Amino acid sequence: MTRHALDVEHYISPETFALEREKLFGKLWTFVGFSSMVRERNQFFTRKVAGVPILIQRTTAGIRAFINECPHRLSAIQTVAEGNRPLICPYHAWSFGAEGELHGLPNHGLYQFTAQEREKICLHKLHVEEVGQLLFVNFSAEPVPLREQFSDDYLEQLREASSCLDTQIIYSCHRVRYNWKLNMENVKDYNHVPFVHPKTFSPVMTAPIKTINSEPQTPSLIMQLLQQGAAPALSQLSYPTKAPIQPYKSWFASLCETYGEEHAYYNWFMYPNVNFCSVRGEHFLLQQYDPVSPGETDYHLWMMTARRKDVRTDFTALLSTLIRGERAVIAEDTVILERLQDGFGKHSRRFTHGDYEAHLVQQHLWYRANVLGD
Ligand SMILES: [Fe+2]
Repeated sequence: MTRHALDVEHYISPETFALEREKLFGKLWTFVGFSSMVRERNQFFTRKVAGVPILIQRTTAGIRAFINECPHRLSAIQTVAEGNRPLICPYHAWSFGAEGELHGLPNHGLYQFTAQEREKICLHKLHVEEVGQLLFVNFSAEPVPLREQFSDDYLEQLREASSCLDTQIIYSCHRVRYNWKLNMENVKDYNHVPFVHPKTFSPVMTAPIKTINSEPQTPSLIMQLLQQGAAPALSQLSYPTKAPIQPYKSWFASLCETYGEEHAYYNWFMYPNVNFCSVRGEHFLLQQYDPVSPGETDYHLWMMTARRKDVRTDFTALLSTLIRGERAVIAEDTVILERLQDGFGKHSRRFTHGDYEAHLVQQHLWYRANVLGD
């Protein structure tokens, strides 16, 4: 059976968006932050993941993830982006224990809960997993095993690379006007780099384009994929890549325990919505494209160097320079992707993919089978 890549309808339709929230973000493991953001007891951070308010907090039991909502009047338990505060609702001061169980109920006589009722009251706890310093959450009561979403080799690489991350992190979040899938597709598409980033990113790469020297096959790789029509395994959608970059050391490299030995630009694509990268193992960035609506995405960006040899080294100025550079590259993509989204409509024809975009078509085939249920 011949299938085809996604249609533009799947980038603009509220029905598809609802399916994604249920069958994709509702089921898969999603990156949420770094363990270094919750080092001390009661340290926490809050954010939204696919529209759901999440609270990550270190309790006496360890790092725990909850929906940031009190079971009483559904107020947020923690009301700021990060801090250090016990699990107490600011509205009526209900307090919660290490696993989210109800602890204290001021003026309890007013509620008249039976012991049984009271025992059932708790925060909505989510599954959370640590891979090195990367934290993932899952909304499902019985999540797919992490090893099904990511291969063992890949998880080992994530563990190794993320163990090199420094704890001084710079972060930004801005809203863009395009569907989150366009960004995941854009970062896997290395052939845009010389055209969209001729002055910023492209000069860093020594060989931005990997040439495919073979004669065109018939049918092409893409045609074969589509004719087979079989969805790839979920773990095939996340993979590492490495490209050679200018052999040059940054001034700060000697101040850090750098990752790897190569002059390489490392990428770890994490399906569904993360691009984790490192420039020569000297500094790292993690981009996440968090869906807000079919045509809107929150672009989260974290950056840090490899671990400082001396924690007294202050990289505040360096990190703000690095993030400014990265935001300039992102701005070049944003212009293209917002224009793409703006042009999508009923008149739109299908995408025309070539062999170098096989990974992208694989994503579409998995999505058709698992989100759209085709
Ligand atoms: Fe780009």
